[in-house]
Amino acid sequence: MKGNNEVLAKMQNLLNYELAARDQYLAHSRIFLDWGLTKLHERLNHEMEEEIQHVDAIVNRMLFLEAEPDFTQQAKPEVGGNVTEMLENDLKGEVMVAELLKDIMKTCEEVQDFDTRDILQVLLHDTEMDHIYWLEQQLDLIKKIGMQNYLQSQM
Ligand SMILES: [Fe+2]
Ligand SMILES: [Fe+2]
Repeated sequence: MKGNNEVLAKMQNLLNYELAARDQYLAHSRIFLDWGLTKLHERLNHEMEEEIQHVDAIVNRMLFLEAEPDFTQQAKPEVGGNVTEMLENDLKGEVMVAELLKDIMKTCEEVQDFDTRDILQVLLHDTEMDHIYWLEQQLDLIKKIGMQNYLQSQM
């Protein structure tokens, strides 16, 4: 089934950022492991796996809509230099992806591609209710209990 060009162009752009998110979580989770922050490592490794699922859903849908997903346009992962910077960069990326998802879903409704919208709805739910919520909680915790205590809780 041939998809709408605007929807497909926006899905390619989304794919570029989901691929970057996957690599950013991969980098951050490995750095946390090296720092002995095992809990942060495990959590971000789980996020990385979810980003792969997002990429999977987008790529499968693009192929179904007779587009060729381009894996060479990936956005640049923003690797942070310390824990706060890493969590802030992750949050920035997730907020950006949530905006892209909402914009594509709006276009999907305009062209009545309701199935693509429903597929993207699952990604939006993960992005807002899981990733963004968790990252905001961590940054709040650091403010509330201090970095020293936070780091101790993540070993
Ligand atoms: Fe994602
Ligand atoms: Fe995410």
